[in-house]
Amino acid sequence: MNYICGAFKVTDKKQIAKDIYDMRIHTPEVANIASAGQFIHIKADGFFLRRPISICEIYKSDGEIRIVFEIRGKGTREIAKIEIGEDIDIMAPLGNGFDILASGSKAILIGGGVGTPPMLELSRIYGENSHAIIGFRTADKVMLSYDFAKNGSTVQVCTEDGTTGHHGFVTEPLKEYLKQENPNIIYACGPRPMLAAVIDIAKEYGIRCQVSLEERMGCGVGACLGCACRTVKDGEEHLTHVCKDGPVYESDEVIL
Ligand SMILES: Cc1cc2nc3c(=O)[nH]c(=O)nc-3n(C[C@H](O)[C@H](O)[C@H](O)COP(=O)(O)OP(=O)(O)OC[C@H]3O[C@@H](n4cnc5c(N)ncnc54)[C@H](O)[C@@H]3O)c2cc1C
Ligand code: FES
Repeated sequence: MNYICGAFKVTDKKQIAKDIYDMRIHTPEVANIASAGQFIHIKADGFFLRRPISICEIYKSDGEIRIVFEIRGKGTREIAKIEIGEDIDIMAPLGNGFDILASGSKAILIGGGVGTPPMLELSRIYGENSHAIIGFRTADKVMLSYDFAKNGSTVQVCTEDGTTGHHGFVTEPLKEYLKQENPNIIYACGPRPMLAAVIDIAKEYGIRCQVSLEERMGCGVGACLGCACRTVKDGEEHLTHVCKDGPVYESDEVIL
């Protein structure tokens, strides 16, 4: 695994929704080798264990990466205190990213809550050949919908309480979309029940699907077994490390 560990400057930071922060980090070394779907492991002041956050966008020419994260507990609360001009201590890029199909291929990007950020770099790659369906609990948690549109993706926002967009889960618009369109691949990241439902739909329509798992993590580099996940390959069950073997898996490999 080829990764860099160090302190890098935060060049931009803003709050974009309730408890949700958007940061840019100047790290040419990481930007140069990172790919869509990989993550960074961030040191939170006062905590031994780092916190994993997906790479949301990669700006290779500026030598920067973008992350978008929600304050969930004490670790992310500390990370959100890091201001523009201060250093953030990261290990990155970690894990295996998404497979990118040949130019002209059509992709569906499914994001659930904090599973939405890693879909944005895919939207930069697939542009108008991508359709994003992103779901949140409620309107004040909605993030990044304009960023997907700026990249050329068509976007459908869903909220569980119906406060904006489609009232319900991402799976309903996904099924509607697949009745009319025949994409080459579905990418998904979000809560496990959402991933399980998306995987079933992909199977029903015979479409390749890659999912990214947001497992709790310890070391982030395959040394502690903190992120073990059961997978199947060639009919045999294996125990894999989400941090090292994932977080991206083919949908028919994961046991959720
Ligand atoms: C590969 C990967 C990529 C991720 N990318 C992002 C991202 O781009 N943006 C983002 O906002 N979050 C992302 N997460 C989730 C993020 O890592 C957790 O929210 C964070 O570690 C919580 O730390 P904390 O100290 O603030 O909360 P804690 O005090 O550790 O936990 C607070 C609450 O969050 C839950 N929680 C903690 N870790 C996870 C997890 N991994 N998955 C689900 N629930 C969890 C706990 O069960 C608890 O209920 C990602 C996780 C992984 C594994
Ligand atoms: S987090 Fe330690 S093995 Fe994956």
